[in-house]
Amino acid sequence: MDSATITGSGLSGAPRDSLTARFRVRDAFALPGDDETVVARAARDQTYPIHVTRDATATRTRLAELLETAETVAVISDETVDALYGNQLRATLRRLGHDVIAQTVPAGEASKSLEQAIALWHWLADSRLGRRDVVLSFGGGVICDLGGWVASAYMRGIPYVNLPTTLLAMVDGALGGKVAVNHRVAKNLLGAFEQPAGVVCHLPHLRSLERRQLAAGLAECIKKGVIASPAYFDFIEANADAILAGDQEALEQLVRAAAAIKTALIERDPYEIDLRRPLNFGHTVGHPLETVTGYAPLLHGEAVAFGMAVEARIAEQRGWLDAHTLDRLIVLLDRCGLPTDAGLLPPITAGELIGAMEKVRLIRAGSLRWVLPLALGETIIADDVTEAEVREALARSGAQ
Ligand SMILES: NC(=O)c1ccc[n+]([C@@H]2O[C@H](COP(=O)([O-])OP(=O)(O)OC[C@H]3O[C@@H](n4cnc5c(N)ncnc54)[C@H](O)[C@@H]3O)[C@@H](O)[C@H]2O)c1
Ligand SMILES: [Zn+2]
Repeated sequence: MDSATITGSGLSGAPRDSLTARFRVRDAFALPGDDETVVARAARDQTYPIHVTRDATATRTRLAELLETAETVAVISDETVDALYGNQLRATLRRLGHDVIAQTVPAGEASKSLEQAIALWHWLADSRLGRRDVVLSFGGGVICDLGGWVASAYMRGIPYVNLPTTLLAMVDGALGGKVAVNHRVAKNLLGAFEQPAGVVCHLPHLRSLERRQLAAGLAECIKKGVIASPAYFDFIEANADAILAGDQEALEQLVRAAAAIKTALIERDPYEIDLRRPLNFGHTVGHPLETVTGYAPLLHGEAVAFGMAVEARIAEQRGWLDAHTLDRLIVLLDRCGLPTDAGLLPPITAGELIGAMEKVRLIRAGSLRWVLPLALGETIIADDVTEAEVREALARSGAQ
């Protein structure tokens, strides 16, 4: 097929309401052969920057770059983040020359809903936000997931930028382009893969985050150390106390490395065609644990921490992981105040957890994928873990 020749002056830089440029388009496509399969190309291989910034000036500079094309910036946030930092951000954006519109949703997982997304689409449509404008998701993982999904569908997709404000979002939720809301049937059921135009992690925002939330974010970092980087695990071991005390230098290294590791891991399979992903370590038990505890009392990172403890114990029972490495993991999670024993969880039984895992197994065409560590940086993804093995590991983790 011959490609099109397009001549004319571009629209870039032209004010939106003066569409005077003329395009002349000439095509000369050959006709396809009778039995030629038509192949549609839809490359989605774009890159985007992840900036980690330590002060307002650096953040303003990065936002200016990422929002350059936008006349209007639509800020989506939650009520807690808005109360803390909303005025400041809106003032910064206005100083950069943007019109700013802003909408907040209640803080918490319940806002990751279809109803909330619909309300936001009405708001964007009524505000006449255009394709060259930008949605700025300003909050934790809930807001990044919700705002990204809203942007991905509005006008078939307008750019969005993530300004994550929790550690969990900086090291995980704001990265990778998985955007979604929950449905009563399953978490993240309605969503898309839509990469952000960029991410800015402004570290001072973490100063107002509770230690418990920092620890939950740290759990996802420890996971990355176990599956992909002994050096990162060592770094967290050496710096966990500083990180949890909010030390900006330690946090900067932590966030930067998490971004590098997560993006390198998902680059191999950005649209999750292969579900055998080491990044799911801790989640085979963690997600069902969130389900049986009704999502509310446990933070996601806490559920993942318990999941990692159980899954690493299964690996050790198989003789795949040595007792010393298992011990290092448990000691580190304990030090961070993350649960490795069922005594620290809302009351659950092994039977309830196994029942919830069975439901996941049914949804996943009969098999559960377990990410079992062999050593730091090395995992096996296995689907032959038996109920007896799970029960043994749960019993060792205090769940009968
Ligand atoms: N898309 C992905 O790849 C991905 C990955 C991991 C997690 N997630 C999603 O992320 C969500 C969890 O994210 P989360 O833990 O950030 O939750 P969250 O967005 O609910 O934030 C946690 C709490 O912290 C508050 N908060 C946010 N920033 C603050 C700040 N700077 N100071 C004080 N309080 C602040 C929020 O208002 C909220 O109450 C889940 O819905 C999960 O599914 C998505
Ligand atoms: Zn997770």
